[in-house]
Amino acid sequence: MSNEIITAENVKLHYGDFEALHGINLNFNRNEITAMIGPSGCGKSTFLRCLNRMNDLIDSARVEGTIKLNGSDIYAAKTDIVELRKEVGMVFQQPIPFPFSIYDNVIYGLRIAGIRDRQVLDEAVETSLRQAALWDEVKDKLHDSALGLSGGQQQRVAIARVLAVKPKVILMDEPTSALDPISATQIENMLLELREQYTIVLVTHSMHQASRISDRTAFFLQGNLIEAAPTKKMFLNPSKKETEDYISGRFG
Ligand SMILES: Nc1ncnc2c1ncn2[C@@H]1O[C@H](COP(=O)(O)OP(=O)(O)OP(=O)(O)O)[C@@H](O)[C@H]1O
Ligand SMILES: [Mg+2]
Repeated sequence: MSNEIITAENVKLHYGDFEALHGINLNFNRNEITAMIGPSGCGKSTFLRCLNRMNDLIDSARVEGTIKLNGSDIYAAKTDIVELRKEVGMVFQQPIPFPFSIYDNVIYGLRIAGIRDRQVLDEAVETSLRQAALWDEVKDKLHDSALGLSGGQQQRVAIARVLAVKPKVILMDEPTSALDPISATQIENMLLELREQYTIVLVTHSMHQASRISDRTAFFLQGNLIEAAPTKKMFLNPSKKETEDYISGRFG
C-alpha cells in the first residue's frame, strides 16, 4: 500500500473569472501532519476545501485537476459526498458548537447517520472525547450545554465530533488561532497523538506550530505551491528563495 493517502494533481480553482489556484501538485502521507503555510490570500483554505469538496458549497467555485483519496477520484460522478466528508473531516478556525449538550454535539454525525443505539453512542462519546483530550474535564457534565465551555474546550468538542465518525483524514484550518497559548498547546499535543491513527492536514499562520508538530510543510504563495518538503528541511534549508524570505519573516 502506498504511503500516500491523498494525491492532488494539477489542481486549479476558479472563483468566477478569478483563478485562485494555478495548478497545485501535492500529496499527503498517511499518519503524518502536513502543515500548509503562506501569506494571507495565497490559497491555503481554498486548497484545503478542495480535499473534501467543501468548495462545492460555493456557487462560483470551479475545480479542475485530479484529487484522489486512496486512489479514488473524489470528483468522480459516482463519489458519495456525504461518505467523502466522513472520511475526510474538517475542523474550522472558530469552534461553532451547536446549541445543545456536549454529548449531542459529539454524536451529531452519528445521529445523522441514523445510529440510535445508546450504548454505541455512549462509547463513541467517551472514546472521541478521550482522543480529543477533553474527557476528564467534561465527563461529569456531558449533558450541559457546549456553549458553556471555554474556547479551547469548544474546539476540542469540534475535534471530538469529527473523530466520532472515524475519519481517515482530518483537515484543520487554523484550528488554534482563536485560542489562548495554553489551549493551543493542548491541541498541538493532541494532534501529535492523533497522528498515530489519522492523517492531518493543518493550515497555520504559526511557523512555530508548523515546525513543532508537522512532518511535512507546504509553502503557498499567490495560488502556487512554491515548495513542499520535510519540515526540518523546509525550515533549516529551504530550496526556494521565496520560502526562505517567508519563513525568516521578510514578508507575509
Ligand atoms: N468565496 C470566495 N469567492 C471569491 N474569491 C474568494 C473566495 N474565497 C477566497 N477567495 C479568494 O481566493 C484567494 C485565496 O483565498 P484563501 O481564503 O484560500 O486564502 P488563505 O491562504 O486561506 O488566506 P488566509 O490566511 O487569510 O486565511 C484570495 O484572493 C481570496 O480573496
Ligand atoms: Mg484561510
